[in-house]
Amino acid sequence: MRLLVKGGRVIDPDNDLDQIMDLLIEDGIISQIGIDIDQTGAEVIDARNMLVCPGFIDMHVHLREPGFEYKEDIVTGTRAAAVGGFTAVCCMPNTQPVVDSAPVVRFIREKAEKAGLVRVYPIGTISKGQAGQELSEVADLLAAGCVAISDDGKPVVKANVMRNALEYTKMFGIPVLSHCEDMELSQDGQMHEGYFSTIYGLKGIPAAAEELMVARDIRLAELTGGHIHICHLSTKDSLELVRQARARGVNVSCEVTPHHLTLSDEILGDYDSDAKVNPPLRSAEHIQALIEALQDGTIDCIATDHAPHHREAKDCEFQLAAMGISGLETAVAVIMDRLVQEGQLDVYDMVRLFSCGPADILGLDGGTLNIGARADLTIIDPAAVRKVEPEKFQSKGKNTPFKGQILTGWPYITIVNGKIVAREGSIV
Ligand code: DOR
Ligand code: ZN
Ligand code: ZN
Repeated sequence: MRLLVKGGRVIDPDNDLDQIMDLLIEDGIISQIGIDIDQTGAEVIDARNMLVCPGFIDMHVHLREPGFEYKEDIVTGTRAAAVGGFTAVCCMPNTQPVVDSAPVVRFIREKAEKAGLVRVYPIGTISKGQAGQELSEVADLLAAGCVAISDDGKPVVKANVMRNALEYTKMFGIPVLSHCEDMELSQDGQMHEGYFSTIYGLKGIPAAAEELMVARDIRLAELTGGHIHICHLSTKDSLELVRQARARGVNVSCEVTPHHLTLSDEILGDYDSDAKVNPPLRSAEHIQALIEALQDGTIDCIATDHAPHHREAKDCEFQLAAMGISGLETAVAVIMDRLVQEGQLDVYDMVRLFSCGPADILGLDGGTLNIGARADLTIIDPAAVRKVEPEKFQSKGKNTPFKGQILTGWPYITIVNGKIVAREGSIV
């Protein structure tokens, strides 16, 4: 079985490569990258004017299964990932039951295997029952296939639990993924606290609610020598804390979402609950700082925090609406349209932030076009123009503030293990 990706712009930041070339896949493996590769007996993908990239990895998604299948399940979530241009996702453990034991990890892996589309790497909880009191059986979770631990959805309130988590995971060389939120400060806040929350009459969540926890977790990583990874980082001062910590040699990494990079708190003016998310959309000043941090290397990767919700949870009073954005199917187009085409982010950096960026944080086998590597590829058509139509999403979560927008630059073909799994918005 030979598949030839012909004449595309091959971008592989892991190998400092950015050149128009052919790429040959044989039996699921990348076997050759070069000019004018012999195409005898091969199926050919015409990739002229396309970007040929290592398979994109989304290290932060909520697949909702087990327990919340009415919001999303492993089949629909991985279909959404495939059409969104992702060849692998890491799924958060705030399911029901939560992922705090080996049988639940095995359940997810089996379901993902059966779905047979993209790779699914489970994340286990930091605390038993995600209750924040007692450390999970981390060794069991890792032995069953978890790639990291996180209590995402909630902060780890007790500093001592976070300390133990960092101490323990250090032995295994995996990061602790932290949802940084001081709940005393965020309380029942509805949006970013600032000028627009005052104008709109909505209770605010101050940037400090995030920053206090970022500062605490960095200090605990410093104390223990563990690796702290900051989820959905969204404020200017959180970035500053990460920069200072790195300069001191602290093992800290961070991710940012497409929505925090491109949407500001001003849009809450029409009270669209699809734009209600935690952490909240921030002000223009924070967005500018995030974009600069993408370019200067402070931010290690882009992750969607794909948080599908049921219609009822969003079609209600703004104050009661659930927080979260269904992000898998718009991430690439949003970044391409809003940042790359606008000259705010180099396409090469975009590829890095979606591929070897997340792979390096988690030590995953992927994010590269090494010869001999498993053929996971994301091919992007930078000229494709399409409207965001949530009713056509593969995801059950139609909750997107990007609905109706016309974006330029979409995933063209997604290849996993040498097999085409999605093409131009459809599952193959
Ligand atoms: O908006 C969010 N939704 N933020 C989170 O941290 C959790 C997520 C969810 O699970 O819905
Ligand atoms: Zn979170
Ligand atoms: Zn999340």
